[in-house]
Amino acid sequence: MERTAVSDSPEDTARLGEELAARLRCGDVVALVGDLGAGKTTFVQGMARGLFVSEAVLSPSYVLARRYDGRLPLHHLDAYRIGEPRELIEAGLREVLPSEDGITVVEWADRVAELLPSATVWVELTLLEGERRRIAITAPA
Ligand SMILES: Nc1ncnc2c1ncn2[C@@H]1O[C@H](COP(=O)(O)OP(=O)(O)O)[C@@H](O)[C@H]1O
Ligand SMILES: [Mg+2]
Repeated sequence: MERTAVSDSPEDTARLGEELAARLRCGDVVALVGDLGAGKTTFVQGMARGLFVSEAVLSPSYVLARRYDGRLPLHHLDAYRIGEPRELIEAGLREVLPSEDGITVVEWADRVAELLPSATVWVELTLLEGERRRIAITAPA
């Protein structure tokens, strides 16, 4: 499945994340790719809303991973500061790639692509002019 949408605002981007999250199941991994400011964290905030997470989702850039509890646990990883993919493994994160009990979403996922399951849902966010973003979601058949 491939779907491309144009987002005109942060709320649009969050809504796309919310819609995707509603269709996810335990063990699903979502990989986010896009430049700084493209809207990856905004998309995760929408996913959290779709999973009925009540806590505020922050950018995890200064920690490798956070866990939020909702309809399913949401494991939010950020590979921005990762030098080598194995650092994620050394940090004990193999067990959420995939997670047995919840959903995993990874920002800067292209940096750790080799660690992600083949069934990963890829979301590519591209900065257009102003507040516009192109968001392409590719899910395995
Ligand atoms: N259409 C849009 N989608 C997402 N964010 C947008 C959009 N338009 C403007 N923004 C702004 O861009 C920034 C995106 O930040 P963030 O979601 O943290 O990006 P990333 O995690 O990719 O670095 C926010 O300040 C947000 O308000
Ligand atoms: Mg971010």
